[in-house]
Parts: sequence; C-alpha cells; structure tokens
Amino acid sequence: MRGLPHKKLTTHAECCYSGYAVAKGLMRRVNQILRFAQNDRERGFSGEKSGGLEMLKEAEKIWMDGQFVNWKDARVHVLTHTLHYGVGAFEGIRCYKAGDGSAIFRLDDHVERLFTSAHIMSIEIPYTRDEIKEAIKETVRINRLDACYIRPIVYVGYGSMGLYVEDNPINVAIAAWTWGSYLGDEGLKKGIRVKISSFTRHHVNISMTRAKVPGYYVNSILAKKEVKAAGYDEAVLLDPDGYVAEGSGENIFIVRKGIMKTTPLTSILAGITRESIIHLAREMGMTVVEERFTRDDLYIADEAFLTGTAAELTPIREVDNRVIGTGKPGPVTQRLQDAFFNIVQGREKRYKDWLTYL
Ligand SMILES: Cc1ncc(COP(=O)(O)O)c(C=O)c1O
Repeated sequence: MRGLPHKKLTTHAECCYSGYAVAKGLMRRVNQILRFAQNDRERGFSGEKSGGLEMLKEAEKIWMDGQFVNWKDARVHVLTHTLHYGVGAFEGIRCYKAGDGSAIFRLDDHVERLFTSAHIMSIEIPYTRDEIKEAIKETVRINRLDACYIRPIVYVGYGSMGLYVEDNPINVAIAAWTWGSYLGDEGLKKGIRVKISSFTRHHVNISMTRAKVPGYYVNSILAKKEVKAAGYDEAVLLDPDGYVAEGSGENIFIVRKGIMKTTPLTSILAGITRESIIHLAREMGMTVVEERFTRDDLYIADEAFLTGTAAELTPIREVDNRVIGTGKPGPVTQRLQDAFFNIVQGREKRYKDWLTYL
C-alpha cells in the first residue's frame, strides 16, 4: 500500500490491527476536518478574511461603568489617562456555542486575573468580582451573541494628567464581538510560520508579567510588526537571558521525545489556556515540564504550538525557516487541540466546571 509504513505484517492479527489503525487514523482526520468547520460555525465565523485582520464586527451594546451604551457611543475623552501612559488591566475571554447553549470558558479565572492585574498596578476596581462576572454575561446576552470574544478593560479615566495621579476615576468597560481564529483558520489547521523577534520580552523587574496591562503590548506590537513585515505569521520573543519566552500574544509549548515543555512563569503572562493545556496533557499521561528552553531547542522540537484565548491552540510548522517535525501538526498537538475544542464546545462533561453557561 503506497504511503503507508513498509513494515512486513506476518500474522492475521497484525494485518487486522494495521487495517484498524489506518482506519482509525483516517477517521480521526475526517473528524478533525468536520470539527474545524464546526468550530468556525460555533465561533460565529463566516469565513471572512482571517488572521486577525478582518474588520471588527460591531455588536449593539457595550457595558460602560454599569450601563449599556450603544456601540458607537462607547467613547472616552482624549485625555483619558490610560490612553497616554498605558496603565490599566484587561482580559480576553471567549464564549463558545456549547451544545444547546453558549458558555464562557473559564470565566472565574479570567475575572480573577483581571483583579490580580489591577492589584499589581495598584488600581482598585470599583466593582466586585461577581458584579463583573454578571456584567460580562449580560454583555453577551444583550448583544444576542452565541459565540464571541469578550474584552473587559479597567482604565484610569479623565482627571489629572502626569504620571502620578490620585483622584482620576477608575473606569470599566466590557465589549463583546464575533471573532474568528486569531492566527487564521489555515493556521489553526495546518500550523503557522513564526520568527524569533529581535525585541526582548519583559524583564521580571521591569514589567510585572503576572499582570495583563495595556502598555505591555507595545513590546508585543513591535515584535509582531517586525515579523509580519518579514512575511511570517507570528513573533516568538526571547527573555532577557536569551531563552524562549512566548509569542506576542500567546504562550508556547514544545514536544520532544515524548516530553512536553513550556516556559516557566517568569517573563510571560500566566495564560489560562496554557494552564488548561498543561492539565489536559498531564491527564493524558504526558510528562509536562515548566522549564526554560533555548531557541535551538525550539528548532529541533518534534512539535511546537502556541496557546491563548485568541489563538486557541495553534500549531507551529516553521521557526526561522526551519521546519518543525514533519511540517504538519503532530499527534500530540492534534490530540490536545481536539480535546480543547471538545471541552470549550461542551462535549466533554468532565470539564463542565470550566464553562459558565449563559
Ligand atoms: C502575552 C500573552 N501571553 C499569553 C497569552 C495567553 O493567555 P490566555 O491563555 O490566558 O489567553 C496572552 C493572551 O492573553 C498574551 O497576551
């Protein structure tokens, strides 16, 4: 049989098993293709230009400081403090169509990280965690979105200017809109090409990386622009010691000789998807280590992938023009990607605690 391994099959049992394994592999691939089509539908994605470049799909209302305002009226003053200096806190959350309903993935954890980020920035959010959770759910409901991306942001409002301000209001807004796969549908299926950026990731005593802060993304945007201009899909940044840190908006994993590695929580954001994937991989019996690894460890990985709320689980097929593994999403990547989508779309009852139904 062309295209199949040439191992000689001796016994009837071996022949049957081999046929079974091939059929199982094919079924898996067919299921995956069907699942990708379903993923697009369940994220409400119509197949427009992807890769994060499609125009923002307007919804109807945005929650601002306790009230819903029309999308077009959700404005701030040009002297809003955060607009100038970047101190604030924000989140990226996804809501998926999950069975008969819609469910927000790990809402509690995202809201907790929003409060943690604000705490690190010495900002007191003028709402409770429960109030923010309720406002997030209501934002999705009022916009009648069954699958969407949700963006809560806490910002220092209009008042005084200058670096040190005491009495400016702390404002909170929550928007939600339909957003397809961040690194493109093709990227999700076939993997993306990444390049190591010349820009270094945050140092632990320069940026407080446990916090998700608007101003930190200047570093990400510089890296992303650099590699996009060179024709790549995404940037991978190294930490100040030269070890691999993360993508411009994603955490990174490698698999080599059956061991999975991801960056420890030093110069990176503690991704909620990262934590979910570590949990799933360990449950599948894989050894996962949180350990620094080098740029050439990435080059020689059997598999590599990025994780994030926007990027979900996106395979990496090339790094700095070096093909990773076979150049296609590897078996571990595919298995984890399948498991991830099964969970977020409510097909895996064991993980229902990770879902908040609307
Ligand atoms: C810099 C950075 N790293 C990692 C992540 C992944 O985090 P999460 O999985 O919580 O979305 C994000 C996305 O928020 C990010 O912006």
